Amino acid sequence: MEVLSKFLVVTLNSITSKCMVLLVIVLVLRALLLPSFPGFDGIEWSNLVHIRTPLLNSDFGIRQDKFLAVPQLVWGLNNQKIAFARACLTARMLNRTLLMPSLSASLFYKELDLLQPISFDKVFQFEKFNALCRGFVQLGRYSDVLNRTQVLEMEKGSGRRWSVERDLSQLKEHSKGSLDDYEVIQIVGKNPFLWHDHWPVKDYAKVFGCLDLTEVIAKEADRVVSRIRAIGKEIIGNTEAAEQENGSFQLLPYVAVHMRIEIDWMIHCKKLERRLNTNQICSGKKEIVERVRNIAGLKSPVVVYLAVADKLLNNSFILEGWGEGFLPLEKKKLGVDGVYDKYPYLIQSAIDYEVCLRADTFVGNSFSTFSSLIVLERTQKMIRMSVSNMSGENVRWPSYAYNIRGTTNGPMRWVTNMSESSLQAISYGTNHLSC
Ligand SMILES: *[C@@H]1O[C@H](CO)[C@@H](O)[C@H](O)[C@H]1NC(C)=O
Ligand SMILES: *[C@@H]1O[C@H](CO)[C@@H](O)[C@H](O)[C@H]1NC(C)=O
Ligand SMILES: *[C@@H]1O[C@H](CO)[C@@H](O)[C@H](O)[C@H]1NC(C)=O
Ligand SMILES: *[C@@H]1O[C@H](CO)[C@@H](O)[C@H](O)[C@H]1NC(C)=O
Ligand SMILES: *[C@@H]1O[C@H](CO)[C@@H](O)[C@H](O)[C@H]1NC(C)=O
Ligand SMILES: *[C@@H]1O[C@H](CO)[C@@H](O)[C@H](O)[C@H]1NC(C)=O
Repeated sequence: MEVLSKFLVVTLNSITSKCMVLLVIVLVLRALLLPSFPGFDGIEWSNLVHIRTPLLNSDFGIRQDKFLAVPQLVWGLNNQKIAFARACLTARMLNRTLLMPSLSASLFYKELDLLQPISFDKVFQFEKFNALCRGFVQLGRYSDVLNRTQVLEMEKGSGRRWSVERDLSQLKEHSKGSLDDYEVIQIVGKNPFLWHDHWPVKDYAKVFGCLDLTEVIAKEADRVVSRIRAIGKEIIGNTEAAEQENGSFQLLPYVAVHMRIEIDWMIHCKKLERRLNTNQICSGKKEIVERVRNIAGLKSPVVVYLAVADKLLNNSFILEGWGEGFLPLEKKKLGVDGVYDKYPYLIQSAIDYEVCLRADTFVGNSFSTFSSLIVLERTQKMIRMSVSNMSGENVRWPSYAYNIRGTTNGPMRWVTNMSESSLQAISYGTNHLSC
């Protein structure tokens, strides 16, 4: 190292080059000297450094002898993820450990007894969550609670009179004095998803960044992604695209499109368009196909994975009309419908989410919470990779909204604005995208 640096210092004599060399040396030394954590590879390590959470600083922690309990989380995967993050951030505000909540494996939101509770750690890794989020938020198990008789119920109000301010003052009240003495605070009330939002987007992003699927589910997602890339390889064969990727199908790019064209969505979005006086919410199949085909700089032939929520949707219908150079795939055509059928709704959805997250290009609807959360996590990924201009051309992990027309008649480029002060700005749909 010393010989190398002397050589370089002699060769490069401008001050800037010296600084550059020093920087490189520091980076190399850092990479060499950092301890290797089990389960953390180099990329994840740099991620941790970049998001600047006080992750490894256990002094500035969360109390582990006071707990918050919340009702079962319900509705779709994205609603449950948001409710979970909200529960975590509420617990953080109260400086309490969140008792691992129950999620819901099924989507029957009208009949509570059909909601099939499923433990958080059946879907996401519990220990890893705590390791990644250490010092920021903390999850605990019900067996950690010493005295189950010391439970204080905190009733969440609802309706118009339950304002953001009231909600906030309730939380403040419960974080001091005799109320704070209770070992467990139990939130009661109907839909935790409807709690008011007091937290900036970047806090939500931190919580989402600590959620890793359990190994079993992650393996299923790997299987789906490998199938997509393998089919891509078969079809694309020995064309230029494959050669550029050095023949390794692991690297064959794919586009994931979250297609929302089910009938109940169409009814909902038409209403929304009328209410908001816009025509940029609903896109039919034809428009989606056309916009995806017009993505600037997208190399074809290319494989397009269609993430479709509704099983009843006619497969041949969504697979038709993509035209030359675009190979549309859905679960049945990929031969992975068996993988999905083994699991309840929540896990199927989590696998689909992962497949979209890992796609080289993602195209979704900016009024869909599912799409919005994927774009939020992809934006985090770009931030961690220090992409300087996330709206630039040829960046890795680009995302688009097909419901809004961008340049060259393609979909609009889409990144999440991490400076927004509330998740509301991104989770209930928007046509103001930051790109
Ligand atoms: C939680 O309480 C502990 C102990 O009182 C304190 O050291 C820590 O800073 C608090 N954490 C937060 C996030 O308020
Ligand atoms: C739990 O708390 C209650 C109320 O403070 C108390 O009466 C009881 O003895 C406690 N039980 C244990 C096992 O500490
Ligand atoms: C292809 O790329 C991989 C990973 O970058 C590398 O390990 C492998 O040697 C390359 N193969 C060829 C034939 O260049
Ligand atoms: C599915 O769509 C195709 C083409 O649009 C049509 O020919 C076929 O009858 C449809 N099948 C069902 C079950 O609706
Ligand atoms: C980022 O890239 C886009 C598209 O190429 C360009 O329009 C924009 O000016 C760039 N922004 C910055 C800050 O360089
Ligand atoms: C991001 O959000 C912040 C806070 O709402 C706002 O000031 C800023 O203009 C937004 N940036 C973009 C690029 O929209």
